[in-house]
Amino acid sequence: MKPASIGDYREAARQRLPHFLFEYFDGGSYAERTLNANIEDLQDIALRQRVLNDVSAIDLTTTLFGQELAMPVALGPIGLAGMAARRGEVQAARAAAAKGVPFTLSTVSACSLSEVARGSPAPFWFQLYMVRDRGFLRALLEDANAIGCPVLVFTVDMPLPGARYRDLRSGLSGAPGLRGQARRVGQAMRRPGWAWDVGLRGRPHQLGNVAPLLGPKSGLEDFLGWMKDNFDASVTWADLDFVRAHWNGPIVIKGILDAEDARRAAEAGVDGIIVSNHGGRQLDGVPSVVRALPAIADAVGDRLTVLADGGVRSGLDVVRMLALGAKGVLLGRAWAFALAAAGEAGVRHVLDLIEAEMRVAMALTGMTTVDRIKATSLAA
Ligand code: FNR
Repeated sequence: MKPASIGDYREAARQRLPHFLFEYFDGGSYAERTLNANIEDLQDIALRQRVLNDVSAIDLTTTLFGQELAMPVALGPIGLAGMAARRGEVQAARAAAAKGVPFTLSTVSACSLSEVARGSPAPFWFQLYMVRDRGFLRALLEDANAIGCPVLVFTVDMPLPGARYRDLRSGLSGAPGLRGQARRVGQAMRRPGWAWDVGLRGRPHQLGNVAPLLGPKSGLEDFLGWMKDNFDASVTWADLDFVRAHWNGPIVIKGILDAEDARRAAEAGVDGIIVSNHGGRQLDGVPSVVRALPAIADAVGDRLTVLADGGVRSGLDVVRMLALGAKGVLLGRAWAFALAAAGEAGVRHVLDLIEAEMRVAMALTGMTTVDRIKATSLAA
């Protein structure tokens, strides 16, 4: 049966992926309070039903950073998304291009910048993690510039990683060496569709942009180890100068959750921010995105472009985020689940679902264009 919702895609991904990979995509940090609050607080926001407006022509188009989009939605950065399907990031980028929305490639993707550039018919955004090796970063930014990535998403909420218990339990981390490998292979063998299509035919599939730093024989563990050892916890606002010096295009800071930091970002002159708690994967216990968003949009919405992500599981959720002050919304797990379940067609279908759901939400709140969606679209 074809999935009818993002929730269905999550279940389909659970059936298709080896256990450790499903847990990696689905999980959050610590007790997962923030992960769950992102979803629940968003769904708790009541939309205001209005009737007898002419809603026969609904326009979802918008412009972000000078780019015309079919709707105010982007695929956000997901590290190792390419493990969900064969050459997965290429498939997702193609789906986004077909639907007229941006795809964002993570620094720690499975496919490299150049592979995605070759496979995608449209330019895509690039997400940067600050790692210690500035020479590597410089080269990465030069590559992203050279292939025409229009927007740089600079993620700042991972100076060090939050503990993800599910990854420890599943054998993704915490079971080093052969023992962990044997567990993962055992789990993959219970998912023959994935094992054949991605595990065998998809190789090499896990090194992407950092492959040159790791050497030819490296595996998943080396990759995760590299991430742990090389993320730079000493980064401050001053490091924006480094980023700016090597990037000529809009810069969007991802991982802002506090109005003070948002003001600081505006003073630093960045083009946008993404209100985000990394999908509840970093500091568990911080507020859900929708709780933090209104104060941040109030503080800086007139000075820079405020985007948001976290817990979006339908087009109704997109409209809720817009009503709370976001100008655009990034999907995270929603597209990763669809990619795992059905590849490029799955991601395209999720974007179709989001679009159709947005249309219904806009029609029944009486909003025919994206910029009319405001706090008044919410029930008191
Ligand atoms: C992420 N996220 C993320 N963010 C980022 O800037 N770079 C990255 O490499 C990753 N990797 C990553 C992997 C996985 C498996 C997940 C689930 C998330 C965070 C992501 O961009 C986004 O902020 C959240 O996924 C949004 O929450 P939802 O929509 O997934 O609930």
